[in-house]
Amino acid sequence: MTGIVTLVGAGPGDPDLLTVGAVRALQRADVVVYDNLVCPEVLEFAVGATLINVGKLPFASQTAQETINGILVREGSLGRHVVRLKGGDPFIFGRGTEEVEALHRAGVPFRVLPGVTSLNGVLGAAGVALTARGRNRGFAVFSGAGSSSAEIRTWADYPGPVVIYMGVNRVGDITREFVNAARGSEPAVVVANGGTPREVVAETTVAGLGDLLRHPDDWTPAIMVIGAAREHAFKARSLDGKVAVVSRNALESPAADELRARGARPAVGVHHEPSHPFAREVCVRAEVPKP
Ligand SMILES: C[S@@+](CC[C@H](N)C(=O)[O-])C[C@H]1O[C@@H](n2cnc3c(N)ncnc32)[C@H](O)[C@@H]1O
Repeated sequence: MTGIVTLVGAGPGDPDLLTVGAVRALQRADVVVYDNLVCPEVLEFAVGATLINVGKLPFASQTAQETINGILVREGSLGRHVVRLKGGDPFIFGRGTEEVEALHRAGVPFRVLPGVTSLNGVLGAAGVALTARGRNRGFAVFSGAGSSSAEIRTWADYPGPVVIYMGVNRVGDITREFVNAARGSEPAVVVANGGTPREVVAETTVAGLGDLLRHPDDWTPAIMVIGAAREHAFKARSLDGKVAVVSRNALESPAADELRARGARPAVGVHHEPSHPFAREVCVRAEVPKP
């Protein structure tokens, strides 16, 4: 009996960004193979499944891709329903192609449930609109990791907003090439740990990026956009950027959604990190009625 391997995009962190298909696949899974970008709450949908952490941490030792492929082929060949849970979308800087290729070669049936990727799941939630009628009709996206300076210069010449995944450790090259392309004074937004209790949103200019990201470990993972700013309507909300401390059972209540609509991020306990240079010091201790 042959099983099925489903590559599932888990979104960037916030469980609200899981698709209905992702939740169903997790509920039916015998085995879940996941990496470290996935928010732990997401795994709670996989009741009774065997969880295998293949621990992809940025810039750290990690399970080799061949080993992960081997686990998927082995578990699928044993007749199991396997969910390969990947941060964001499996086909956007996610190495999903290598996994489906390995499954195809081994004759293990597979399917893909795409996920919300960081460029809309993280930047959109932080108030960055990548297109707006009358303002721009497109944007560019590239990975800082693995890009040469010449390639970065090509992206810098794109006439519109440019989104950068895995760019924190390339900030020197990115700043230089965008300044050389006469974009030094354009806005830059950086969001670290988007959609998680540790989320940090920072705004600067291209010229200010080096200073902002001088301690890269504080900004991992982070996505950035150059040439687009947070919408005024987001910044004007009364609780913009503040952490609202609520009780655990109030986190999913309508009252917590009201706090979100006022710009706050409801969190259980004290989640802000005063040591982080851009952590919001101000917390609102919200009185949310018990549901
Ligand atoms: C290996 S790529 C995986 C991208 C993922 N497949 C996606 O679709 O979002 C890792 C990069 O995605 C971005 N990223 C992933 N999760 C993020 C998050 N929660 N907040 C900010 N950036 C994130 C960062 O640029 C990070 O360096």
